[in-house]
Amino acid sequence: MIPVTKPFLPPREEYDRYLNGIWERNWLTNNGPLVNELELRLKEYLHLDHLLFVSNGTIALQMAIKALDLKGEIITTPFSYVATTSSIVWEGCRPVFVDILPDRLTIDPKLIEAAITPETSAILATHVYGIPCEVEAIQRIADKHGLKVIYDGAHAFGVKIKGKSIFEFGDISTCSFHATKLFHTIEGGVVITKNAELLKRMAYLRNFGHDGFDRFNGVGVNGKNSEFHAAMGLALFPHLEAIQMRKKEQALYYFELLKGLRVKFPEIGGIDAYNYAYFPIIFPEVQQLKKSMKLLEDNGIGSRRYFYPGLNRLDYTHGECPVSDQITERVLCLPLYHTLSKEEQRLIARLLLRVQNN
Ligand SMILES: Cc1ncc(COP(=O)(O)O)c(C=O)c1O
Repeated sequence: MIPVTKPFLPPREEYDRYLNGIWERNWLTNNGPLVNELELRLKEYLHLDHLLFVSNGTIALQMAIKALDLKGEIITTPFSYVATTSSIVWEGCRPVFVDILPDRLTIDPKLIEAAITPETSAILATHVYGIPCEVEAIQRIADKHGLKVIYDGAHAFGVKIKGKSIFEFGDISTCSFHATKLFHTIEGGVVITKNAELLKRMAYLRNFGHDGFDRFNGVGVNGKNSEFHAAMGLALFPHLEAIQMRKKEQALYYFELLKGLRVKFPEIGGIDAYNYAYFPIIFPEVQQLKKSMKLLEDNGIGSRRYFYPGLNRLDYTHGECPVSDQITERVLCLPLYHTLSKEEQRLIARLLLRVQNN
């Protein structure tokens, strides 16, 4: 069986070393030393001023919306994972969908202004598949209209533009460290901001609003993460470069193998460091996608319609986004993970070409 993705596990003894420390200290959660060490390592690695390790990428988005005190409408992308939209709704705001760029699949900044109303409080956009949004154009619009900007960077670990981490843009960025992500802590995520005041607010939010044992600063939630999760991230760090290199090699090999296949790949030019976290292909029509998925499945190969349906098509949302509607019908992510072999990639490519040429 070739799954569509597979979590990376560090050598057992490397994780065990961290576990031994946890047993010695008997400190399992609540801002423990490994959580602090992981936050420091991440700040160093990504060259960021402030971040907080939280329980997952969804709570990261919810905390960001809460910390910025957003109300009313939030302009967002229809082409992302459901958590981008559900977080908006969960926080009592209304998602307003703006269509995506056909090549890069991120929100189209040219369409944002027409969607702004007196009710709009923010823009929440996704660096989908790690492809950076048009951050400068988005910031100009936000500044002009007094809107906040949140980036869902769940897929964007390690991505850089203009010589800096993609997480430096916007008021708050979030990332997911779910087991299937490039860098993971089994479950986990981060909120990132340059603003020390916002960081402080999110630190309260993460811990029920506790300001000491018996005082509270506003309404909080439990967004904390544990020492065991932090340990996984720390044990994974030494392998990160190798994982990233491997994914890049695999992606470049797919490009070569799939030259004869009439599919489109999202545009990834103009990025200083890209992470090749996913391998999406866009078929010319949905029938070819369905036949390809079926033949892959018959051969024990997983693939995923990531993202389908579009988020404007959920039963609690609406919005007309013709570009996104077309892409969501025709996009498929192929297997990509550290142990995927060249032989397996060749098999996948052969099957895809067989469907096209039959
Ligand atoms: C774009 C996007 N946003 C948010 C999330 C939510 O992250 P988590 O699974 O860590 O809650 C995901 C998860 O896959 C995602 O892909």
